[in-house]
Amino acid sequence: MSTPTDAVTMDKIVSLCKRRGFIFQSSEIYGGLASTYDYGHYGVLLKSNVKAEWWRAVLQERDDMVALDAAILMHPRTWEASGHLAGFTDPLVQCLGKCKKRWREDHLREAIEAEGGDPDAPLVCPECGGELSEPRNFNLMFETHMGPVQDEGSQVFLRPETAQGIFVNFKNVMQFARKRPPFGIAQVGKSFRNEITPGNFIFRTREFEQMEIEFFVPPAQAPEWHQRWMDERLSWYTDLGIRADHLRLRRHEGDELSHYSSATSDIEYLFPMGWSELEGIANRGDFDLTQHAEYSREKLDYVDPGTGERYVPHVIEPSAGADRGTLAFMVDAYDEEQVEGRERVLLRLHPRLAPVKAAVLPLVNKDGQPEKARAIYEELRKRMPAEFDTGGSIGKRYRRQDEIGTPWGVTVDHQSMEDDTVTLRDRDSLEQTRIPAAEVADELERRLHAEWRSPKPVTAG
Ligand code: GAP
Repeated sequence: MSTPTDAVTMDKIVSLCKRRGFIFQSSEIYGGLASTYDYGHYGVLLKSNVKAEWWRAVLQERDDMVALDAAILMHPRTWEASGHLAGFTDPLVQCLGKCKKRWREDHLREAIEAEGGDPDAPLVCPECGGELSEPRNFNLMFETHMGPVQDEGSQVFLRPETAQGIFVNFKNVMQFARKRPPFGIAQVGKSFRNEITPGNFIFRTREFEQMEIEFFVPPAQAPEWHQRWMDERLSWYTDLGIRADHLRLRRHEGDELSHYSSATSDIEYLFPMGWSELEGIANRGDFDLTQHAEYSREKLDYVDPGTGERYVPHVIEPSAGADRGTLAFMVDAYDEEQVEGRERVLLRLHPRLAPVKAAVLPLVNKDGQPEKARAIYEELRKRMPAEFDTGGSIGKRYRRQDEIGTPWGVTVDHQSMEDDTVTLRDRDSLEQTRIPAAEVADELERRLHAEWRSPKPVTAG
């Protein structure tokens, strides 16, 4: 397996996230809840930017998409129709030896195969070498009850994907959206899966956010649209700065396909633990609309007003993780370098993803510089997220901004007090240019919308 030769490791990302307030262990004061995370200030801003860029690309810049925000709790019949009640399971094996740990049987076999071993050989516990139980199918849906009585009739599930909220609203959307296939419905929201082996920080958790599109097309156009969406989604990641050689498409083999899918390709990213799924792009055929039509007895087909042809649209589904995407953007942006004998850690984030776009800093905390810097900051923050920072030496303040990925520093110094200019410091090149204070906001806005490529070298093997 190819692993990055970058300086980045998952431990460094976790430590930066905690140090700079991006992401914390959930319920930390109680010892933490396993594999559950809370987003702090910069984490909220970064993940919001990831979602905003997704909305911009899939909705704002297209004519063939509408938005939806469906409830997390859905009618239980949804999950019968979708196949999740019967089929959304993972094969679970438990150690019968000392440690009693639970494992996903398929993951254990994949790991053996990746190391050149025989995946069909009998398994032992990777932790203590103990015997493992026979595999048993474990349903990943979280279950709860609605109302005061906890009987079978009150049982509901936390949705394991946002997709089903889209399918059950297909008819509503068709009625008001004035769209005809090919068109899509896009949604961002939380999903929940009782994963057997969560891990790798926010890569696999039990509560996570998805950014999903169900794109409805005439059946004959499904293969073409599948390819178009793979191309579009790959470009989205590279346009936002992920290096192309850290992304690849991987087609699912027949036995790996989900119960609903006739073809799926994953966009994989070269995470520190190796190539892993970032986004799935499935051709779901007419499976979902046909199932929901049967279970709900509602007609979920489409009649072409031009030809009178009646058909059930096929569905292409680009399904991305907002948390997993945020992690990939951070991993790809993480860098370390020596500057004048000191190590500098920085996130070379695309400026549009950066939580803060510019920090306005007085060089010294006197001589009118803080007041002047504050006035520039107050103007700038009307146009973009900015920070005003007077705490500590200028070097320390730059280091803090580098670590949170702020692309530009605006420094007010003694010359600023004489000629009303400031210096603009570029996070990536460290270049400093002097410009009139009155031009700062326009100049930064121009840079924010300019094309951007990561200055990091190609590293993948
Ligand atoms: N509706 C299709 C669907 O949910 P999926 O491949 O199971 O497909 C889509 O999930 C994406 O959701 C994944 O590529 C990943 O980015 C994200 N995702 C899935 N399970 C996750 C988990 N346990 N933790 C974080 N993200 C997850």
